[in-house]
Amino acid sequence: MSGGILKKIRSGAIASIIGIGAFSAVNIYYDKQKFYDQILIPTIQYLDPELSHKLTILWFKSGLVPKSQYKDTPILVNKIKHLSFRNPLGIAAGFDKNGEAVSSLENIGFGFVEVGTVTPKAQTGNDKPRVFRLLEDKAIINRYGLNNDGYEIVHTRLQKLKQNKSFNGILGINLGPNETSENTISDYVNGITVFSDVADYFAINVSCPNTSNLKNLKKKENLKNLLTAVISARNNLTIEPKPLIFLKLSPDLTKEEKNDIIKILKDKMCQIDGLIISNTTVERSLNLKSSSASEPGGLSGLPLKEHSTKLIAEMFKLTKGSIPIIGVGGVFTGQDAYEKVKAGASLIQLYTSFTFHGPPLIANIKKELQSLVNDDNYGNIAEAVGKDSKK
Ligand SMILES: Cc1cc2nc3c(=O)[nH]c(=O)nc-3n(C[C@H](O)[C@H](O)[C@H](O)COP(=O)(O)O)c2cc1C
Repeated sequence: MSGGILKKIRSGAIASIIGIGAFSAVNIYYDKQKFYDQILIPTIQYLDPELSHKLTILWFKSGLVPKSQYKDTPILVNKIKHLSFRNPLGIAAGFDKNGEAVSSLENIGFGFVEVGTVTPKAQTGNDKPRVFRLLEDKAIINRYGLNNDGYEIVHTRLQKLKQNKSFNGILGINLGPNETSENTISDYVNGITVFSDVADYFAINVSCPNTSNLKNLKKKENLKNLLTAVISARNNLTIEPKPLIFLKLSPDLTKEEKNDIIKILKDKMCQIDGLIISNTTVERSLNLKSSSASEPGGLSGLPLKEHSTKLIAEMFKLTKGSIPIIGVGGVFTGQDAYEKVKAGASLIQLYTSFTFHGPPLIANIKKELQSLVNDDNYGNIAEAVGKDSKK
């Protein structure tokens, strides 16, 4: 081939790459849902799920994710104790395990960010592969096994973020024990001390299905001891206002376990500030179509939706609405979020739907939620919380 033709091919290729890059940049900048749904996400889905997770975190870490154009509205502002959430939509634990993407998550419109699960020492988690996309089911199965950088590294990262004022939203730290821990309770307690200067709330994760040492905490006496210890550690902090304590529950609790939790939560020493409902499920009788459906691990996404909403409604009734609930599990639309609000959730989190639809999903859910609250003639979303339980 002559040098002239080669030059033409090379400049044609460069022009095409620049063209595709510019087209993608414009579409990403304008938050085009169609571009994400039809081009970007299907392309990413050709990659291994864990690799795409890593690349997304790198992208978010780079700060090159454009700020959402959607302006939050007072109708969606909600409060838990002293914390005022500028919108009720948060990113659930597990997406930003190490606190690397917090500013970008705020910029794309999340009202709060939950980092973790973080454990005292860094740990690598389970063997790969450990994340599976169930495309036909709009779901994910993961058995990561709480891989993370450990308290010290994550804390330093978050401290810098606060010092630089690169994040002004509400920050939750999801805590868990190390896989090899000999004292799981002190692992949580240490977390409260270490992160006390950066956390607005702590999520006590006793519900990850992929680690062996959380099973003991299902026992009534152990859970009571854990909550007594973390509440006392929080109360002993000299910082004001003190971070809130939320307990994250599994959707697979037996009737007896639910009743035990309700009894424990009535104890004066175990007065938590909220329940996060729910983590992933090990349930598989959900008519799944995908070939990876029988992979062991926690199932999240659409098949979890009804399951978690039912538990929200049940716990709202059992606690007579006295403990605020953060509803999570299979939220893809504003309607899904509103169903959880009416079942008893004051705030909403999501993860799986975000991996299927990308950043434009956040504004779309908020817009739909806003019009659903308006249609019901409520002045604020707080008025809709638990309305279905009164029917
Ligand atoms: C890949 C993956 C990793 C997760 N890791 C954690 C975790 O480290 N800690 C935790 O409390 N929940 C974790 N979760 C559970 C989510 O926080 C959430 O409770 C669950 O996925 C249900 O929400 P969704 O259907 O919107 O994904 C993880 C979920 C997924 C999909």
